[in-house]
Amino acid sequence: MGSFPQDRLSKLTLGTVQLGMPYGYAVKTHPPSPAQRTQMFDTACRSGITCFDTAQAYGEAETVLGQWLADPIAETAQPLLVSKFSPVTDAEPGAFVRNAAQRSLAVLGRERIDAYLAHHPEDILDPAVGEALRTLCAEGAIGSFGVSVYEPEQLDKALQIDGLSVVQVPASLLDKRFQKDGLLQKCADHGVTVFARSVFLQGVLLMPVDQLPAALAPAATAVAALQALAAEIGCPLASLALAAVLSMPGVQSAVVGVANLTQLTRNIAAFESMPDQDAANAALAICGSLPLDVIDPRRWT
Ligand SMILES: NC(=O)c1ccc[n+]([C@@H]2O[C@H](COP(=O)([O-])OP(=O)(O)OC[C@H]3O[C@@H](n4cnc5c(N)ncnc54)[C@H](OP(=O)(O)O)[C@@H]3O)[C@@H](O)[C@H]2O)c1
Repeated sequence: MGSFPQDRLSKLTLGTVQLGMPYGYAVKTHPPSPAQRTQMFDTACRSGITCFDTAQAYGEAETVLGQWLADPIAETAQPLLVSKFSPVTDAEPGAFVRNAAQRSLAVLGRERIDAYLAHHPEDILDPAVGEALRTLCAEGAIGSFGVSVYEPEQLDKALQIDGLSVVQVPASLLDKRFQKDGLLQKCADHGVTVFARSVFLQGVLLMPVDQLPAALAPAATAVAALQALAAEIGCPLASLALAAVLSMPGVQSAVVGVANLTQLTRNIAAFESMPDQDAANAALAICGSLPLDVIDPRRWT
C-alpha cells in the first residue's frame, strides 16, 4: 500500500485554508488577491517548500492551488500535494470518496494526489471508506491516504486501519497532547507520516499577551514565559514554536498557515533561524496541560 514520499518532503508545508476563504479566530482575514496568492505560492516554492496542504472544504483553495500548479515554476517543481475529502454525506460512502477524489484530481489538474485524507475523523473508520481509499491507491489516483484528527483518541483508532500512512494532528507549544500519550512515537514506529498543524494556534501564540482573546486567558502566563525565553535566546517566538513542534517524535513537516506574503517570508526566516534542541526542550517544558477549551480553536467562542 502507498506510503508518503518523506524523502521529498520539506520541514515546512504551506497550508492553504487562509488562501481560499475568510479564516482565523483572532483576526478574520480574507483571502489575498489572485496576484498575491501566486506570489505566495511562488515564494514558498522558491524557498524550498515542497508540499502544499489543501482540502475541498477550504473555499477556493483547491481551485487556486490547481491554477498555480499549471504555472511553469510549479510544473518544474512538481510539489507534493495533500488534500482532504469533505465529510461523507452519501448513503454510499465508497462512491462518495471516489467521486470526491475525481473532483480533487480535476480541480488540481493532477493525475495523482500524494496524500488524500479524511477531513472528518469518523469517516476514516467506515470500512467502505477505507476500501475506496485502498482501491484509489492501487489505481494510482492517490499516493497514500490517512486522516486529519483533532483528538488523540481519533488518531489511536485510525492507526489500526489497514494501509493508512499519513496523519495530520494539531500540535504546538501549548498543545502537546499527541506527544504526551506516545501516539506520535507510535506513528514514527509504524512509518506513518505526521503533519503537525496549528503550530501557532491560529496565530494567537504570536500575539502580544495583552491582546490574547478571552478564551486564551489561562494560557497568558505560559505565552509570556515563551516570549521571554525567545527574547533571551534571541530568536522570534515563531522559530521556537517551529523548532519545538518539529522536534516531536514522528513529526515530518509543520503545516503553516499564512494570511499574506509578509507572514510567509517571516515564517520561512523563522524556520531558517530555528534554535537548537536544548532551546526547543526548554520551550516545551514551559507549559503544562491546558484545558481543551483553551487549546482547541473549535471551542473558542
Ligand atoms: N482539520 C484540518 O484538517 C485543519 C484544521 C485547521 C488547519 N488546517 C491546515 O493547517 C494550516 C495551518 O493551520 P492554522 O491556521 O490552524 O494554524 P497556524 O499555522 O497555527 O496559524 C496560522 C495563522 O497564524 C497567523 N500567523 C502566521 N504567521 C504569522 C506571523 N509570522 N506573524 C503573526 N501571525 C502569523 C495568521 O493569523 P492572522 O490571520 O490572524 O494574521 C495565520 O492565519 C491551514 O492553512 C490548513 O491548511 C487543517
